[in-house]
Amino acid sequence: MVLDVIQNSYSVRRFKEEIPSDDKINAVLEAGRLAPSWINVQPWHNIVIKDKETINLMGQLSNGQKHVQNAPVIIACCGDFSAWSKDNFRKVVEAKDGLTPEKIEFLVNSPMYNPGERGVDAVLFRTLEQVTYAVAYMALEAHNQDLGACIVGAIGNKLTGELADVREKAKQKLNLPEYMEIINLLVLGYPDQSRGVPKKVRKDFNQVVSHEKYSK
Ligand SMILES: Cc1cc2nc3c(=O)[nH]c(=O)nc-3n(C[C@H](O)[C@H](O)[C@H](O)COP(=O)(O)O)c2cc1C
Repeated sequence: MVLDVIQNSYSVRRFKEEIPSDDKINAVLEAGRLAPSWINVQPWHNIVIKDKETINLMGQLSNGQKHVQNAPVIIACCGDFSAWSKDNFRKVVEAKDGLTPEKIEFLVNSPMYNPGERGVDAVLFRTLEQVTYAVAYMALEAHNQDLGACIVGAIGNKLTGELADVREKAKQKLNLPEYMEIINLLVLGYPDQSRGVPKKVRKDFNQVVSHEKYSK
């Protein structure tokens, strides 16, 4: 049950040394590949990192977060801004069933549907939004595979504007073209629960849910 996985999952920041099997890592990646996205644009690419030197660089990119530096595996979850270019966006729209030529032209040229028509900020926000779905799906599948995962967003990238030097080094190391950016790191491994499991701290149900009208 998905809700069971959600209820029992937490951000894991301590790992055993053993590297998870490729089958488990591939199940996690598959969950990300199958995530929903805006008009099915899928503006993402995931890079699996096991190399210690690259993991260390990712640790620097996260401003020295220990669980990143000590991670057995990291998936660098990248946004692909080129997916929103007019040509690529058009291809995605044209691949959809049942759209008339007029509807296709409308979608491709509408700032409501094509963030490229709104400018770079909208492209960044929409890319972030899509990658977020993929990362959430991957994190849940990691827990479903009895792995531990932590989503790490506090890194040097276009969103934080921090750590420009490390960011450049990381982009070079991962061979990322200009139109791609690491949005999150998904840190993965077998959880070390020797110090227990943290309590899930969330707002109460009624604090975050209303019916028909907002009520406090
Ligand atoms: C978008 C995003 C970015 C996050 N970035 C970090 C991070 O940089 N470092 C970290 O240790 N945890 C990070 N987290 C994990 C959150 O701190 C964690 O989900 C939250 O405190 C709730 O705890 P739980 O996941 O254990 O229930 C991030 C979570 C999300 C969704």
